[in-house]
Amino acid sequence: MRTIWSIACCAGVAAAFPFVVRQEGIKNAHILQRQQSGGYQPGGPANCPFNPNHEFPVPVTDEFPYNGAKGGLPGEGVGGYLVPAAGDTAHQFIAPTDQDIRGPCPGLNAAANHGFLARDGITNYTELIDAMQNMYNMGYDLANFLATVSIIVADGDIVTKKVSIGCDATTRTSINPLLTGSEPGLDGHNKFEGDASLTRDDYFLGKGDNFNFNGTLFGMMSDTTGGTFDLNGLGEYRYQRYVQSRQENPNFYFGPLGTFQYGAASFVYELMPSGSDNYVPTLENTASFFGAQQQSDGTWTHVPDRIPENWTNRVTPYSLLDVTAQILEMYLKHPVGFGGNVNGAFVGLDFPPYIQGGNILAATPADFACLLYQLVTGQIPSSLNGVITPSVEALQFALTAIGGAAFTNLGCPIPLTK
Ligand code: HEM
Ligand SMILES: *[C@@H]1O[C@H](CO)[C@@H](O)[C@H](O)[C@H]1NC(C)=O
Ligand SMILES: *[C@@H]1O[C@H](CO)[C@@H](O)[C@H](O)[C@H]1NC(C)=O
Ligand SMILES: *[C@@H]1O[C@H](CO)[C@@H](O)[C@H](O)[C@H]1NC(C)=O
Repeated sequence: MRTIWSIACCAGVAAAFPFVVRQEGIKNAHILQRQQSGGYQPGGPANCPFNPNHEFPVPVTDEFPYNGAKGGLPGEGVGGYLVPAAGDTAHQFIAPTDQDIRGPCPGLNAAANHGFLARDGITNYTELIDAMQNMYNMGYDLANFLATVSIIVADGDIVTKKVSIGCDATTRTSINPLLTGSEPGLDGHNKFEGDASLTRDDYFLGKGDNFNFNGTLFGMMSDTTGGTFDLNGLGEYRYQRYVQSRQENPNFYFGPLGTFQYGAASFVYELMPSGSDNYVPTLENTASFFGAQQQSDGTWTHVPDRIPENWTNRVTPYSLLDVTAQILEMYLKHPVGFGGNVNGAFVGLDFPPYIQGGNILAATPADFACLLYQLVTGQIPSSLNGVITPSVEALQFALTAIGGAAFTNLGCPIPLTK
């Protein structure tokens, strides 16, 4: 049953969006295997930094308890404290060296630059969940969801539970590269990473570089939002980016995972702002996290992503339902079609029951949460995300890890893997 459904669905999508499977290095297009990131291409294994000295991140202590999140378990969920804590030298900023991996996510880059994640950019499930709670006061449910999607479903290793926060570091993340094939890390395209990002080029337009900071885009974001990176401003800018990518990128693909782009944008005004700015998402604060530095001619260049001075994190945990509420609100400011460009024309897609003919039918935060749930636990994602093909074991793990209270209470339809 599962196999039939999955083949039927994948063949359809492969035919409708051929570029999704024709990306360089992707083998076995019929089955849509895991993306095999090619050697010397951007984000590939050949030029991925290697640090022989992998040091575990320093966990919370009695002296510096943060949220008390340890061992992948829920912490206190009470924020509003200074990060890094005064005197906590283990979590001071240190710029990455050329042996350290950084990637498309400013939140994780900053976490690694402050030692909340391993400074070499190789992390694991437990470390991610702890760091997200202690540093950002992200809710346990959301931290668990993001860690599960990134490691298990998309970009990491389901046995070691390790993932690279950037390029392909299969030799360090994989239990056995011969068995697992390549593990692209968070740079992997059309898995977690997607088109029309805030400050990163589309994979196709950037010739494979979908992870480096682009100062032109940061400048556009700053102009469009008027320097206040709130829901309204980012709603405008997300729309601008969508239109731009759809016009400029012949391989533009905005599948159901496109909803993640709205979630990430909400992190800018929900997770980055500081109590010392009364939680206003200011230009200065946002620029520090993104590592955006303005030059005298007004252009923006990149320096390492960094927690701003005197930063106190958000007070209440940012939960899964909080983020889906923001996704919905931001999306509704400028509803756009889900689908991709094929031979110069946009083709909408179906992701029943939430997306029909490219139009979204999900109407509540719970619907959006269920959409995300179906995306990562159903068989459908292997096609609609492009190249995600989670194994049965991975799906079982994902169901157990994130299936609990977070989604079952929302009345989501039973996932198709059952
Ligand atoms: C386990 C936790 C997290 C994971 C696995 C994760 C993963 C990712 C990935 C794969 C992207 C690339 C998406 C794309 O642009 O196509 C991304 C983007 C982004 N993330 Fe994260 N992230 C996490 C936590 C955070 C946190 C805590 C913050 C903020 C404090 C954050 C802020 C952002 C922002 C603003 C972007 C968009 C960047 C841009 O497009 O320029 N993320 N994240
Ligand atoms: C992740 O790494 C930590 C060390 O920082 C280790 O204690 C833990 O067992 C690892 N977790 C997983 C799920 O492998
Ligand atoms: C940065 O983004 C702009 C606007 O999309 C684009 O024209 C430019 O080529 C990008 N720069 C780099 C270095 O990729
Ligand atoms: C940080 O806080 C200290 C003490 O309150 C203050 O002296 C300093 O100016 C602040 N720095 C910034 C960049 O706001």
